[in-house]
Amino acid sequence: MAAERKLAMRAAVNEWISDRFPDHRMLLSHEAPVYEPSADAWNVTLTTKRNGVAAVPLGTVVVAADASILAAPQPADVLAKLPAHAPEQAPARDAVSGERWEFRHGDGIAAAAELPDHGIDLLLTDPPYGISQRYTCESQVPRRLRKDGSDFIMPKGHFGDWDAVDPHAWTDAVLPKVGGWAVTFCAQAQIGTYTDIFTAHGFVAVGPMVWQKTNPVPFNHRYKPVNAWEAIVVGKRSGTPFGGEMVHNVFVHKSPSPQQRIHPTQKPLPLIAEFVRLFSEPKGLVFDPFAGSGTTVIAARQQDRAAVGYELDPALFGVAAQRVEAELGSLSLL
Ligand SMILES: C[S@@+](CC[C@H](N)C(=O)[O-])C[C@H]1O[C@@H](n2cnc3c(N)ncnc32)[C@H](O)[C@@H]1O
Repeated sequence: MAAERKLAMRAAVNEWISDRFPDHRMLLSHEAPVYEPSADAWNVTLTTKRNGVAAVPLGTVVVAADASILAAPQPADVLAKLPAHAPEQAPARDAVSGERWEFRHGDGIAAAAELPDHGIDLLLTDPPYGISQRYTCESQVPRRLRKDGSDFIMPKGHFGDWDAVDPHAWTDAVLPKVGGWAVTFCAQAQIGTYTDIFTAHGFVAVGPMVWQKTNPVPFNHRYKPVNAWEAIVVGKRSGTPFGGEMVHNVFVHKSPSPQQRIHPTQKPLPLIAEFVRLFSEPKGLVFDPFAGSGTTVIAARQQDRAAVGYELDPALFGVAAQRVEAELGSLSLL
């Protein structure tokens, strides 16, 4: 019963956060509700989302027994405590880099134009493909709460302005720059589109692959089988070698938990590392024009590839740059 009440309080706070901070949702979290008997209300501490560092408290949301919000911090005060993450502002820096890797704030499609034709050895990317459109009402939004009632998995069904990119537009700019393998995540319904695009750009279409998730979001589980896989389409320039291991084209990995990730669709580092190993040679250039939290840059550089990644969203870039620096700053170069 207490756990159910806590869930209701958390849901109320999540909704309050989503309503007040649609552009900063991914940066905010909250702690477990604490019951205050004298007020017959629940105190919930609003915090920054953990990003490998301690969460910063941002104020207290007070929720009544009927789940209405009695008191809450002023949104302006909360935003003022997130200066590095405000999306309207440019991030504190434009890029982080090290020996043979760089992660830049900017448009990865435009940046590809600066690269020589066939200069990329592995295009490994995960473009936005409109997940917001899957949700049409709040009750459809998957929420995964830990046993103690803390945290959630998804904000309301809007993931930001980055959440759609035309497959033809970005591939027209980027694929001519690829001289080896091209590996892109896509919506299941886009497998044919990307296969055709790869072929039209002169790639050998090697076919789709599957990332099977061991912990899928139980979205609409009462009405249909839970979707537990994501599609990846693969092509290569004729004659490009393959890493050589005997592998199946179904890759089984756990999704990063809400506590581990800084991006709602962040990919597992071990999965991306496996793709880097299979589809590129040491010292080759791996490029990700839609780098999100920087997973590709980290995976590539950790395996002695050169890595270049771009992220357009300034708020996300600020957080992701910290992650990439934390992972690669201590890397002892091979
Ligand atoms: C699906 S996410 C990538 C997630 C990533 N694979 C990870 O593990 O974190 C796609 C990202 O592309 C970014 N994006 C969209 N258009 C972009 C562009 N033109 N240039 C750079 N980044 C872009 C979005 O902001 C979003 O973070």
